[in-house]
Amino acid sequence: MIQDELKRNVARAAIAHIVAGEIVGVGTGSTANFFIDELAAIRHLIRGAVASSEGTRRRLEGHGIAVLDLNEVERIPVYVDGADEINAALQMIKGGGGALTREKIVAAVSGKFVCIADGSKLVPTLGHFPLPVEVIPMALGHVRRELTAIGGRPELRGDFVTDNGNLIVDVRGLEITDAIALETRLNQIVGVVTNGLFAHRPADVCLLGTADGVQTLTAK
Ligand code: A5P
Repeated sequence: MIQDELKRNVARAAIAHIVAGEIVGVGTGSTANFFIDELAAIRHLIRGAVASSEGTRRRLEGHGIAVLDLNEVERIPVYVDGADEINAALQMIKGGGGALTREKIVAAVSGKFVCIADGSKLVPTLGHFPLPVEVIPMALGHVRRELTAIGGRPELRGDFVTDNGNLIVDVRGLEITDAIALETRLNQIVGVVTNGLFAHRPADVCLLGTADGVQTLTAK
């Protein structure tokens, strides 16, 4: 089965988690795009959506789905988003598309995080995928030195500016044995907006697309 079919299958399965009459938090990326396309078919059943990026907002609006500002909303029952890597504790690396900060904000306001991913994203240990870090531009040199000092190999993502007007540094070589501790530590570096570890707020459920069908994982 090709990867796009696996993504479409998990996107479809995520619809069962939507709460009728409520707002849906919507992630960013190719898997989230499949979810948006599925959401379009049931848009009359929801109050609207909160988008985790400008790209997602445009796609939602293109389907006629109302997009609300997060500050107009107090509660989002369910957030649906992809991941670059996910482990058995449902901790994730996210931000391959550069939307990590807004994704983390929308996830923080959401009651349930449903991760949708094809089977290739499930890993025993996080960190093969380079960890994205969003950086305030004037702090780039400082942040790079700090990341190098803790054993990382930071690389500036070329020709890329986030929706918040910042830069992304992709960090290789970090040993992620304690994702919660590393998430905290990286966020202490002055000039870092946030990093792509979702360990303090992992997913609550992962719908994993495999050749044998959609598996539902909960944290181990
Ligand atoms: C966007 O910034 C990311 O966090 C995505 O959720 C992640 O990169 C997964 O994207 P795909 O669904 O395209 O693999």
